[in-house]
Amino acid sequence: MSIYPISVTVKSMPGQNMSTIKKNVPAAWYPTMDSFIAKGKNAEIWDKNNNRYLDFVGGYAVLNTGHLNPRVVQRVKKQLNDYSHSCFAFAPHENAVELCEEINKRYPIKKKTKTFLVNSGAEAVENAIKIARYATGKEKIIAFKGGFHGRTYLAMGLTGKEKPYKEGFGPFPKFITHVDYPYHYRDISDEKVLKQIENTLLKKLDPNNVAAIVIEIQLGEGGYIPATEKFLKQLRKVAEQHNILLIFDEVQTGFGRTGEMFGANKINVQPDMVTLAKGIGGGFPLAAVVGKAEIMDSVHDAGIGSTFGASPISCAAALGVLDVFDKDSLLEKVNKQTKIMEKSLGNIKENFDFVGDVRGYGIMKGVEIVESKDNKIPSKDLAMRIINNSKKNGLLLVNCGKEGNVIRFMGPLTTPLTQIREAMEIFNQALEKV
Ligand SMILES: Cc1ncc(COP(=O)(O)O)c(C=O)c1O
Repeated sequence: MSIYPISVTVKSMPGQNMSTIKKNVPAAWYPTMDSFIAKGKNAEIWDKNNNRYLDFVGGYAVLNTGHLNPRVVQRVKKQLNDYSHSCFAFAPHENAVELCEEINKRYPIKKKTKTFLVNSGAEAVENAIKIARYATGKEKIIAFKGGFHGRTYLAMGLTGKEKPYKEGFGPFPKFITHVDYPYHYRDISDEKVLKQIENTLLKKLDPNNVAAIVIEIQLGEGGYIPATEKFLKQLRKVAEQHNILLIFDEVQTGFGRTGEMFGANKINVQPDMVTLAKGIGGGFPLAAVVGKAEIMDSVHDAGIGSTFGASPISCAAALGVLDVFDKDSLLEKVNKQTKIMEKSLGNIKENFDFVGDVRGYGIMKGVEIVESKDNKIPSKDLAMRIINNSKKNGLLLVNCGKEGNVIRFMGPLTTPLTQIREAMEIFNQALEKV
């Protein structure tokens, strides 16, 4: 029996049309989709015109447990009977503590960890760096080209993708240095990058003054490019050798998307600190910084905090998300989805000359579109046409990558296998018609 008993009735929303958006919000924030969302149910959404879509954007990789997962809804409703807000630093609440305890138990850092809850990925990244610099007393940070860490100034500074995120917003903090991210399809090997990091440490920066290296286990915005286990193990060694903290930004790789609970489980490397967001809150705003206890405890009293961080409602939702993992065998589902996607996208790679690469851990799949396999020239135009064709047939997707030519899949982990197959079929047709 489906665990989604909600019947879907789409209400009309008179007076709301796209021109209302244009009139009221800044141009740079204008949405990609050309209709209003009216209803969401697990992996499906309906727009105001009653069009049904498979939602493989998922609120930008947020809805790991789908739209309105009943376990999330149940926890949130229960919390709303009691109170909606308490600033944790003043009045503690049980949801936050239970959640921190669960994350400390589950995140694969062997040493004792502590968890600090905030609102967004960017806020988590800001705080991770703040804590890392405080704990080490060191200044510099190494980040990666193509990496994305958020929109606030420090997170933007760490971000290694100029357009559209940084263009015109500089200058950025001078204590950040970017190195290449391994990209095997474009001949940036693990070895090349490790050499570059060594050179950067020894010739450009004083290794004794580097507080942290921040990396995504798989680039998100940067093109769905996974780093190998071998590379991340080497990076761990480099960090240890120079007494530098290794921070994983798992805002996108966390909560099951890679086929394991966290990306760190997938690649068997333990960071010193990690940032989590997106899927953690089941659609409610929440993020976390998790780190070794001695690092997290190093900051002076009230040196970190957040008015809305650890919202009791978001924390209730996050406990609902963990219920879904525990009670609905979610990781098994992800592995079944992964197999279907890998088979189907593998065939697509063989059949279409303009599909240059298919890659990614678990269901975090990226499809790199090029003019041809031989010349490997990125084709954003083709990628956008495929995305538009998919949308016409009811599948929502978005692009990513430096050149905007990678199509990524970010659907819920709770998507029924029939809908995964349906999505693959629509995608295949979209490629055929392009
Ligand atoms: C890896 C990564 N880090 C940080 C962020 C920023 O998260 P937020 O938009 O919640 O601030 C994102 C958002 O896409 C992300 O993918």
